[in-house]
Amino acid sequence: MANDLLTIENVSVYYGHICAVDNVSLAVKKGEVVAPIGSNGAGKSSLMKAVLGISRVKSGTIRFMGKDITSWPTSKIVASGISYIPEGGGVLPLMTIRENLLLGAIFNQSEINKNLDKVYSIFPVLKERQYQPASNLSGGQRQMCAIGRALMGTPKLLMMDEPSLGLAPKIVTEILNISRELVKDGPSILLAEQNAKKALDYSDRAYVFRTGNVVLNGNSNELLENHEIQQAYLGG
Ligand SMILES: Nc1ncnc2c1ncn2[C@@H]1O[C@H](COP(=O)(O)OP(=O)(O)OP(=O)(O)O)[C@@H](O)[C@H]1O
Ligand SMILES: [Mg+2]
Repeated sequence: MANDLLTIENVSVYYGHICAVDNVSLAVKKGEVVAPIGSNGAGKSSLMKAVLGISRVKSGTIRFMGKDITSWPTSKIVASGISYIPEGGGVLPLMTIRENLLLGAIFNQSEINKNLDKVYSIFPVLKERQYQPASNLSGGQRQMCAIGRALMGTPKLLMMDEPSLGLAPKIVTEILNISRELVKDGPSILLAEQNAKKALDYSDRAYVFRTGNVVLNGNSNELLENHEIQQAYLGG
């Protein structure tokens, strides 16, 4: 559709004979937080990796800002404005926090200073400790460093894979609040989560994944009220 930032149409991803994503369609519009939710092995990460060109798309089409990126190399996809925060953050512990952040600017060198200032204003702790190795950071601070690194590329789409995993509820709330704020004048967000309650609380729309298929999708506040969702994912 015209105002879609990302359009995934009938995409399937296989690892050998294993079907991880089965004919999935999903869209993200500008200014939206969209959440793929679902339990272990449902296909959320595989879909994000397909968008990023890491997992090979067997069939279907991925469009970003009107361009068919399905067979683009990952470097070109990232340079076009898609950042990915892998599960666990993927922060490199032996590098300093500043070096970790600069890695995120590899494909967009033009706005390094502006972006660094922006990241430091969002996460002051990263500025205070910028010359320390990232191994000194707590789990929550590492996730902040990972978000900061992703922002260094001035993304138009930020894909976050399970940002809440292993973090205390208070930190999760803080990180999701910040992410929600980012969307106002920054990237749209694709937020993959096993924590369905959190994901629905913080997203505009959601897609429910079950063994590679999207079984339900809609506005997040409506899905929160949905009896089937409550039974299956919200402990209702
Ligand atoms: N590199 C891989 N090689 C083979 N199979 C894989 C690989 N990565 C994922 N899979 C399989 O693909 C399916 C989907 O996995 P995926 O990681 O996309 O799920 P997920 O929804 O992200 O799960 P989780 O919530 O546990 O992160 C699973 O059956 C998984 O075992
Ligand atoms: Mg996953």
